[in-house]
Amino acid sequence: MASADTARLALRNLRVGRPDGTFILDIAGLKAEPGQCIGVRGPSGAGKSMLLMAMAGLLEGAAGDLRWGQTDLLTRNSGARAAFRQTHVGMIFQDFLLFDELSALANASVSLGFVKVGDRAAIKARAANWLRQLGLQDLDRPVASFSGGERQRVAVARALANDPAILLADEPTAALDWYTADRLSTDLIQAARSGNKTLIAASHDTSFLDRMDRIITLDHGRMVEGAA
Ligand SMILES: Nc1ncnc2c1ncn2[C@@H]1O[C@H](COP(=O)(O)OP(=O)(O)OP(=O)(O)O)[C@@H](O)[C@H]1O
Ligand SMILES: [Mg+2]
Repeated sequence: MASADTARLALRNLRVGRPDGTFILDIAGLKAEPGQCIGVRGPSGAGKSMLLMAMAGLLEGAAGDLRWGQTDLLTRNSGARAAFRQTHVGMIFQDFLLFDELSALANASVSLGFVKVGDRAAIKARAANWLRQLGLQDLDRPVASFSGGERQRVAVARALANDPAILLADEPTAALDWYTADRLSTDLIQAARSGNKTLIAASHDTSFLDRMDRIITLDHGRMVEGAA
């Protein structure tokens, strides 16, 4: 499912405005090659989460030229953007967005409902593999009873279960202890490099950021360091 070309990002003049005419995001340019891992850092409120949402085509008000391979995402309507996300993007949200009443395995393989019957077994198998790889065992228990760090790992497994070309991760290690964070960082980076996926991850975790190929720094919605 992952296509190397889809993982190639070319972004120019990305802007997300506020009603008062100022910008939540105003990014002149950013490129990423398939297999590359890019860290996004910056103070709280700098626009890291908004940048990841814009790159996933989740912000209605985003304007500019945002290409993943041949796909000019911001010119597509919301249905086409959703279809692109479903096929190509694995997203780890800052607040996880899990279904509490569903089990770890059902959450991690939730994209089953959106794919052809023939693709379902592979997604379920990958979801179960990732959950175990990330150190979770009780895959059938509702995630309402999971700890914060366990929920975070379920969200990571869900993002990887579809084998997407693009991984967008919002503080994926924030709820984890040092050891679990380190293991999860290794897994995410390895999944990106070996699968020719582009990983873009917002983080305050310096040991995670240090392992990225590149780091960009945002401040007040602008890229103040790391532009390429
Ligand atoms: N709908 C909105 N209208 C106006 N401002 C908004 C809207 N949504 C987000 N913002 C603002 O945009 C800025 C960037 O938010 P964002 O969530 O991207 O920050 P962040 O860098 O991810 O911060 P954190 O490290 O706390 O997660 C914040 O000041 C936020 O309040
Ligand atoms: Mg954020």
